[in-house]
Amino acid sequence: MNGLNQTFLLGAATAAHQVEGNNIYSDFWAQEQMENSNFAEPSRDACDHYNRYEEDILLLKEAGLNAYRFSIEWARIEPEKGRFDDKEIQHYRDVIKFCRKNGVEPIVTLHHFSSPKWLITEGGWESENTVRYFAGYCRYIAEKLGDLLTYVCTINEANMGLQMAAISRRFMKQMGINIQVGVNLPMQEKQKAIREESAKVFGVDASKGIHTFLSQRTPQGDLLIILAHEAARDAMKAVCPHLKIGLTLSLHDYQPADESAETSEKIRKEWEEEFLHYLPYIVKDDFIGLQNYTREIIGPDGVQKAPEGAVLTQMNYEYYPQGLEHVIRKVAEEFKGDILVTENGIAAEDDACRISFIETALKGVKSCIEDGIPVKGYMYWSLMDNFEWQKGFTMKFGLISVDRSNQKRTPKASLQFLGEQYGRTGIEGRN
Ligand code: BGC
Repeated sequence: MNGLNQTFLLGAATAAHQVEGNNIYSDFWAQEQMENSNFAEPSRDACDHYNRYEEDILLLKEAGLNAYRFSIEWARIEPEKGRFDDKEIQHYRDVIKFCRKNGVEPIVTLHHFSSPKWLITEGGWESENTVRYFAGYCRYIAEKLGDLLTYVCTINEANMGLQMAAISRRFMKQMGINIQVGVNLPMQEKQKAIREESAKVFGVDASKGIHTFLSQRTPQGDLLIILAHEAARDAMKAVCPHLKIGLTLSLHDYQPADESAETSEKIRKEWEEEFLHYLPYIVKDDFIGLQNYTREIIGPDGVQKAPEGAVLTQMNYEYYPQGLEHVIRKVAEEFKGDILVTENGIAAEDDACRISFIETALKGVKSCIEDGIPVKGYMYWSLMDNFEWQKGFTMKFGLISVDRSNQKRTPKASLQFLGEQYGRTGIEGRN
């Protein structure tokens, strides 16, 4: 494979709650501690990245990578409504400075799924106030850290709440659950217990439910998220016009199972909901963060099972690294700004599988660049094995494995492989 151009940002991504540890003021932490919980296990000290970030960034740099995407945790910065913590700002200043000192471009995300617990008490991601609260936090970050930054992602996977709602609709349909007649009672009872305990933990009315970022989103909630993005972008630009700001979206490679008109209409609708309807709000952005993990095959009845014989990853997604190129090409038809691949990766115990996934995905990226599509970077998900939300620590997405009994890091061959994708044409690294 030929090398990537020296200006290309090649790196890996993490998210604060998944790696830092002890994110005690966040909504996820609160949910993990509940007696009735959807989480396989709590995050506890995760990968202790909060204390070990230097070691992790050095491993990334030594492998030849030049960019690191990570998130700033709102719950640390503003643990109580209106109280901002200087000590935590200093922590993230240190992380960003350490990246810069080592020639690594920091790409920060200001919201990656987890929110301060107080925000959920205030109505969370279905409340209009959240637009203002989020913009206030982002303005503060721009004031305190903007001088050290270039790339900022406001919200990770702004479309995730709608996807959660769609998954739930599909699940209900598939299981043929009929709440009236009490089919699947144990599961319904568990969900009821979770709802009631969450309401207590967050101090909200049980009948209204809690609205975390990963809750099923209503169309009004979806609009609020995109307004929060716009308000945050404008607030940060007012303080730091030099910042390049965008959001990230989770995007599937939708493929038709047949040539029927119903199928193509289904695909059109999926793409509209997942991507197209956000376009008017992101045209002023400097880039789009594109995230893809697999394809989805759609028939007249919607999403179909992976084809017979398909290889499934630990997440039960189809192994399909070609999806990235397809999605980049589709996005580029509509979005004319820069594209950063902010996540793409595979959960697999077998690292050889990861290497071939990366190889195919990057071939696709290069082919897009050769065709003039402005893809400016590729961040593999994830730098290290980490806390995969409800699934706990069992999913192995990382380029580095972490022994959580002593937090020892062991780089996998895939880390070196990714770093080697530079320079094969003799082009030197960016720095
Ligand atoms: C999220 C990550 C997550 C990854 C793998 C993405 O949707 O941004 O936080 O770990 O997928 O499931």
